[in-house]
Amino acid sequence: MKIALASDHAGYELKEAIKEFLNEHKLTDFGTHSIESMDYPDTGFKAAEAVARGECERGILICGSGLGMSIVANKVKGIRAALCNSVELARLSRKHNDANILVLQGRFISHSLAKEIIKVWFYTEFDGGRHQRRIDKISRYEKGEK
Ligand code: RB5
Repeated sequence: MKIALASDHAGYELKEAIKEFLNEHKLTDFGTHSIESMDYPDTGFKAAEAVARGECERGILICGSGLGMSIVANKVKGIRAALCNSVELARLSRKHNDANILVLQGRFISHSLAKEIIKVWFYTEFDGGRHQRRIDKISRYEKGEK
């Protein structure tokens, strides 16, 4: 799978750790590339837009709390970004919300929990049905339709 990755300085170490873990996928790393302080919108928008354009099938974004990257990603049309700090939320974000971006917390979860979350997030399929109807409503709102 083609995956877009992005972090800020607070997510950099976790991003590097998950790159090794995701080595069977085709990764596009939109930065950042060090722990030097930077602004999460500068990398987050690039990764989210790559997913929205279909150049990457999914994305993983990481900042310290996960909040900034969530706000950024969900501004991009077509993105359903889910901030997950448990395996159960990761599962639900796929089954119910068809999340195409996973947001992780660089400062609040261990690397091993992050890897468990990623594993479940990748293999869990969207349930469709009533959840598709709800996503269609979000898509219509994005298009300015009621
Ligand atoms: C950086 O200090 C921090 O504010 C950022 O990583 C993120 O948590 C913002 O939402």
